This record gives sequence, structure tokens and C-alpha cells, in this order.
Amino acid sequence: MAESMQGLRRSHRCTELTTAQTGQDVTVMGWVQKSRNKGGIIFVDLRDRSGILQIIFEEQDCGTEYFAKAEKLRSEYVIAVTGRVEARSGAVNENLATGAIEVRAKELRILSESETPPFPIEENSKTREELRLKYRFLDLRRPDMQQNLLLRSRIAILTRQFLAQEGFLEIETPTLIKSTPEGARDYLVPSRVHPGSFYALPQSPQLFKQLLMCSGYDRYFQLARCYRDEDLRADRQPEFTQIDMELSFVDVDDVLDVNERLLHKLFKEILDIEIPQPIPRMTWQEAMDRFGSDKPDLRFGMELKDVSEVVKDCGFAVFQGALEAGGTVRGINARGQGAMPRKKIDALVSFAKDFGARGLAYAAIQEDGSCKSSFGKFMTQEEMDALVSAMDGEPGDLLLFAADKKQVVWSVLGNLRLELARQLNLLKPDDFRFLWVTEFPLLEYSEEQGRFVAMHHPFTMPMEEDWHLIDSDPGAVRAKAYDIVLNGTELGGGSVRIHQSDIQSKMFQVLGFTPEKAQEQFGFLLEAFKYGVPPHAGLAYGLDRVVMLMGGCDNIREVIAFPKVKDASCLMTEAPAPVDEKQLEELGIAVSAPEQESNRGL
Ligand code: AMO
Ligand code: AMP
Repeated sequence: MAESMQGLRRSHRCTELTTAQTGQDVTVMGWVQKSRNKGGIIFVDLRDRSGILQIIFEEQDCGTEYFAKAEKLRSEYVIAVTGRVEARSGAVNENLATGAIEVRAKELRILSESETPPFPIEENSKTREELRLKYRFLDLRRPDMQQNLLLRSRIAILTRQFLAQEGFLEIETPTLIKSTPEGARDYLVPSRVHPGSFYALPQSPQLFKQLLMCSGYDRYFQLARCYRDEDLRADRQPEFTQIDMELSFVDVDDVLDVNERLLHKLFKEILDIEIPQPIPRMTWQEAMDRFGSDKPDLRFGMELKDVSEVVKDCGFAVFQGALEAGGTVRGINARGQGAMPRKKIDALVSFAKDFGARGLAYAAIQEDGSCKSSFGKFMTQEEMDALVSAMDGEPGDLLLFAADKKQVVWSVLGNLRLELARQLNLLKPDDFRFLWVTEFPLLEYSEEQGRFVAMHHPFTMPMEEDWHLIDSDPGAVRAKAYDIVLNGTELGGGSVRIHQSDIQSKMFQVLGFTPEKAQEQFGFLLEAFKYGVPPHAGLAYGLDRVVMLMGGCDNIREVIAFPKVKDASCLMTEAPAPVDEKQLEELGIAVSAPEQESNRGL
């Protein structure tokens, strides 16, 4: 029978005990990690969130009744033990924080029994993740998950402390809001009082934080829950948390400065790593040209080289065709990979094709300087030599080229570069390379929608020196937008906001909003901007991503207590789920689409 806490008080967490407490009577509580009965002596590993402590039961110390009780202990029973701290009788266990001591039990209470868990509660579990997620409450008992959530809590607390010291106010914004069509798909919540009308869950507190600046709060932050109905990836969840901030009377440098100090504090205090101050900056254009990505991983080189000029008159039709169509030819040099077997190269070609390449031309430079290549027969020796030299090719190198539209070439070579780094083990997990990517394009053309869409969001300030191009060449206008990138992951992003209503109206026009539509969607913001609005700017981090990278995890699920899987369902609660007819009726909702079979996998 489960006993109560009456008259008992925990004196220590398991690993708070050291040789310093030798001889003291203590009371500890937790879960039985394992229990071994060696006949007349029972060893119990007691676990709590701090770690593991060895308890020893002998009849002569605890009496017959408690000893009999101790014989019943099984894994995951919850117990309270009172006893005396002693130096360990057996060999000292170097692997445990409490390895030099043990507690000799005098009293035992079984606070709760446990069935045999579906998987062992231990570090580095080999258990299938689906099973772990179904029994997340047990999975979260495992020390590695506890470490992750502890790290998450420390990051959140340090962030709050830092921002409070810097004069930021923590203000909550609503999570039942009006749907705004820009960005990802919204999660909708039906209104019972207004049948046929819906709230949206916020994708970010963007508009509210801007309104708070209009209201004079000057510096705001929030650890904000955000919701986006988009395809999941290893670093994306449908609900996630932002460290969200907004500042008044600032420009780009002020925002970057305060954030560099925040990141410095987090990395110093948590990982004891000094990150450079200031963090290096690179424009979006340079990042794309050198790395084929707006979130370059700087832990290794293998930069992209534009060889269009070098091959413009060569005889290779693939290169010629791409250039004539206004495209580009670029390559990367995989140093020392010239002996890569054909099969592996073929795999790289098919990898490149997954990113839209029509092919991947390669040249392996031999020891004698000649090339084994997929296109050499279309080139003269001089042309080949010029190409090799443009790529800084040395004997033993493997050169890889893509010829296509610039966007395709960037994506193909950018991803190929990362794939090669993975294969060659160049991605050191304890090397942290931060980068600000700045001057993003204001707009990008959406083929799907047949119009320009905002690259960041419609409230982002264009760069003053480019604004005159807004009608003649909208795609060339750069924005006062910036992302903070760490090891190839976008940790956060933000921008200076438009605070002039004429620029904002023009933006809406370029984005294809009629004045009526803009009024309908964002009327409250436009209205607020009529009454005195300070210049303002901000930024938001994905907190989950920050924790993931600092904790060295390769999936965002490892740092979220109760995450969702690929089809956005929760394997533990089985949300989302059908609701009662009656609930639907009250909401005036009729469901037309039958529930489809979905793969509740990872
Ligand atoms: P943005 O859309 O770039 O900007 O989001 C900011 C950061 O939030 C994180 N993030 C996510 N994390 C987990 N799962 C997701 N589905 C997900 N989507 C985004 C990323 C990203 O860098 N309001 C603006 C910020 C601003 O301008 O101040 C915004 O939301 O780490
Ligand atoms: P082909 O003449 O089609 O046999 O192509 C010769 C070589 O060029 C092969 O290695 C192809 O993979 C490669 N190739 C084809 N299209 C492209 C392209 N768009 N960019 C780079 N290489 C290509």
C-alpha cells in the first residue's frame, strides 16, 4: 500500500550528499533505479532529478519489518529512506557523484509502487522514439532528458535576468488573435459566440510587440509560445517558443549589440565558452555567393567558386546552355577526395538531383595533374587547366560543378557542401561559429502566387539607399533584416521595422494588397501608426533551437518536454482528436472531410 509523507521531510537531494555529511542522519526520496538482494544485505540505487545514491539495507540496522519491506522493492517504486551517511563499504564508484558514500537505512516508506516500465529508465536509451514519446512521462525520467530540460530552464532564467538588467519589460501578448495571411499557415480556433468566425493562434507576437512600442514601453521581451502549421523538420515543431524582443529608438547595430551580449552571457555561464564580440557579419549576398546558403556553416571551408567567366567559351554544351539561359556555373573543391569511388560520386550526383540539379559535373585530379572527369571530352586541355586552376585544384582533389539558374546552383552546391562535410566528419559539435547574416532581400518572387512576397514580413524596413528601386526592380531592394546563425542553423531573426505610414502603404501595394485589404487585415496597426510611433526594431530566437544547439542535440524533440511528431500529433495524448457532435454543433461547425489515415511516425 502506498504510504504518505506524514511526519517526513526530505533533507537532501540524492547527489547533495558527499563525504562532508558522513555520520549525519538524512532523509532522501526518489525512484528505485535498481535493487539487488545479496542475501541479508540489499543494495538500492535511489534516483532523483539530481542523480543516483546508493542505499544499503541490513536487518541489524533497520529491523525485520523495514528489511522485509525493502525486499519488495522493484524498479521505479517511489520510496523515502531515512538513514546515516557512511563512507562506501565496497569499492568507490568513480562514475557517480555520490560514489564515495552510501546511506545505511534505518527506515523505509514505500510512497508508491510501480508496474514494470515498458523500457528501462536509463541514459542513452536504445528504445524506439515512438515508444519513448508514447510514454513521455517515463522518458522524461531519463537522465539525458532531465539534463536537456534543466539546460532549457537555465537558458530561460538567464535570458530573463539579462534582459531585465538591460531594461526590458516582460509583457504577455494574446494567443487568441486575428488571422493574418502572410507567413506560414495559421492554426485556427472557432468562436462559439461568433459562429463562422475564428481566432488564429499567433505565429509570433510580431504585431503586438510593435504596438507595445507605439504605446511607449521602449523595450519588451517575452518567452512566447508560437504556432505554425507547416511541415515539420528536425528543427521545427508546430508549437515552439521564441525569445522575442522589441526595442524603440534603435537601429540595426543597437539590436545586434544587445544580442551579442546576451549570447555571450549564455555561452559563458552555461558552456564556459567565450564567443567573439562582436560576432562576425556577412551580407546575405556574400553568404549566398560563398556558401550557397543564407545560414552558412562556418566550421569548414569548401566555398563555392563562380567559374562562369572561365568556362564561357568552352565546348561543354551543359555549361554553355546554362550560361546562355542567363544562369551560372559554379563549383566546389572537395580537397583530397579525388580518389572517391565512382559509386560514392554517383550518390553525390543523385543527392544533387534531389535539390533540383539536372546533373553534377565532376573532375578528379590525378597525381600527374591530369583529370578523370565526366565532361573532359568536351573541353580542350587548356580549358580544363584553366578550370582546375580557377578552383585551386591540386592533385588528389575532387571538383564538383553545377550549371543552372543561380538559385538552383546555390541550393545544390550549398547542400552538397554540407553533405560532404557530414561524410568527411568536418562538423565538430563543440565548435560554435556564430554569424550575423545581414541585408536580406526585402522581397522574394513567389512563382506559386505570381507576386512578390515579403522575405521576412511586411513590416520590415527597406534599406534607404535601395528604396528608389521599389518600382523598377523590387527584387533588388535590400532590407534592414538580420538573422543570427550558428553552425548552419538559423537561431533567430529580426529587422528594423517600418514606422512611416507612406513606406508601409507602398509595401502593402507592392505585396499586392489593395488599401481596403490592408485596412481589413492590419487596420489596427495602421491606425496606431497615425498617433506617434517611435522608430523600432527587434528580433526573435527559437528558444528550442538555442537549447538544441547548446545541448548538442540533433533533434528539436529532445529539448521539448511534450513534442509532436511529423503529422503534428502527440503520441502520448493522441491529440488532435475528434470531438463530440455536441461541441461541433455549439460552434456551428460541420465536418466535411473524413479523417484520413495518417502516418503517426517521426
Ligand atoms: P521568424 O519567423 O524568423 O521571425 O522566427 C524567429 C525564430 O523562431 C524560430 N522558429 C521555429 N522554431 C521551431 N519550430 C518552428 N516551426 C519555428 N519557426 C521559427 C527560428 C527563427 O529564427 N516575428 C519575427 C521576429 C522579428 O522580426 O522580431 C519572427 O517570428 O529559430
Ligand atoms: P551529359 O552530356 O548529359 O552526359 O553530361 C555530362 C556531365 O555533365 C555529366 O556528369 C552530367 O551529370 C553533368 N551535367 C549535366 N547537366 C548538368 C548541369 N546542369 N550542371 C552540372 N553538370 C551537369
